[in-house]
Amino acid sequence: MNNKPWLITIFMGLLLLVIPTLVIAQQSAYETLPPPRKLTAEQSKVAAGNYQKYCALCHGEDRQGHANDHAPSLRSKSLFESGVPHAILRPMSYGREGTAMGGYLDEVGGPMTLDETWDLTYWLFEQSGVTRLKLSTNPVLGDIKRGESVYLDNCTTCHGVNGEGITAPALGNQSALAHNTDEFIRHAIRYGRQDTPMQAFIDKLSASDIDNVTAFLRSKASGWKAQKTVLKELPTPDKYVINPQGQDPSFSLSDNMYVSSKDLNEALNANKRMVLLDTRVTSVWQTAHIAGSIPFPYYADLDETVAGIPKDVQIVAYCSCPRAAADHTINKLRRRGYTRTAVLWEGIFGWMNLGYPVMRGEIAGVSD
Ligand code: HEC
Ligand code: HEC
Repeated sequence: MNNKPWLITIFMGLLLLVIPTLVIAQQSAYETLPPPRKLTAEQSKVAAGNYQKYCALCHGEDRQGHANDHAPSLRSKSLFESGVPHAILRPMSYGREGTAMGGYLDEVGGPMTLDETWDLTYWLFEQSGVTRLKLSTNPVLGDIKRGESVYLDNCTTCHGVNGEGITAPALGNQSALAHNTDEFIRHAIRYGRQDTPMQAFIDKLSASDIDNVTAFLRSKASGWKAQKTVLKELPTPDKYVINPQGQDPSFSLSDNMYVSSKDLNEALNANKRMVLLDTRVTSVWQTAHIAGSIPFPYYADLDETVAGIPKDVQIVAYCSCPRAAADHTINKLRRRGYTRTAVLWEGIFGWMNLGYPVMRGEIAGVSD
């Protein structure tokens, strides 16, 4: 009995020692990194131009994200604190398999040089105006089973039961999991993505549940490696028209714009005369496209690409976003007097999900 006040004093003393240490540990959990090299005025100008030309369609003119599909914000504080350079450079260069995000590096058939991809990464960083944090590369340890139930309770409405992404990025995406570190993922969960639907969970979940759900997501990675695509020759204008001797199809378009996969597939099987435009970044045409389609990316200069396409032929455009890039291209063509034009309603992923065929690019042995 007599011991009690003494014990309380020790206990209070310990608390006073422990609390500030915890607070300091929390605040200094991340050290900062110096900023990367500064771009010259010329490099900045080129990068800004490349951004508008190649990225604004989905990520938005002001990098706000979610302009089309569920392309993430490219200006949120937490992404640029934690992701520069690789969490930006890699998706930009190689894309994310199975999503609308294609690769833009020339090595995989995209339009940008290696220098341009680095400059665009640093330009985005400069625009974001944040300080880089030093993230640990150690794994985040946690209870995967418990993490799964945290995930099911808190994350599926946006990210999907299987991490496929509904209104948010596909967290189960192998290309993303292979490159994003545990700490990058945990940081995103802790702090959210500013000005997007992704809220900060630091005050909503316990520290250990954040670790558990990180470990759960991480457990879905299976060591994806970049595949090396052997670039196919692009078709020449004399190959643009499929079945030049065939009859014209007569599609009934919904909203005066859209043709269904079923109708397009029937017309192709009946050898109808058509031009098929793949309006995605050319690298993804290289990996898989509908047979006979020509790469006709949304950012192409029409004056250069439209030559060789007759005005009286049925044109069908498709993309994977599922319609944004194709709509954009067809609207430009219509303004130029191409009237027999349509967009594939389901996009190429919908087409594939319905079981219709695509041509795959030639994949060389897996590179290390
Ligand atoms: C209300 C919808 C919503 C919920 C619920 C939600 N998220 Fe998100 N999440 C998003 C969106 C949208 C983004 C992309 C934000 C952007 O534009 O950058 C995102 C981004 C992320 C990212 C970053 C991905 C990357 O590659 O940069 C991670 C990691 C993530 N969420 C994990 C989770 C986890 C774990 C949960 C549950 C604890 C969760 N999210 C709950 C909508 C949500
Ligand atoms: C056709 C639409 C589209 C275009 C054009 C596009 N993106 Fe994306 N981007 C996406 C989508 C969708 C995602 C999310 C994919 C997923 O589910 O993981 C994404 C993801 C990203 C990410 C990962 C962000 C994160 O939070 O993890 C980066 C970085 C990125 N894009 C950069 C770019 C850059 C730079 C360009 C231009 C060179 C570009 N994107 C062009 C649709 C697009």
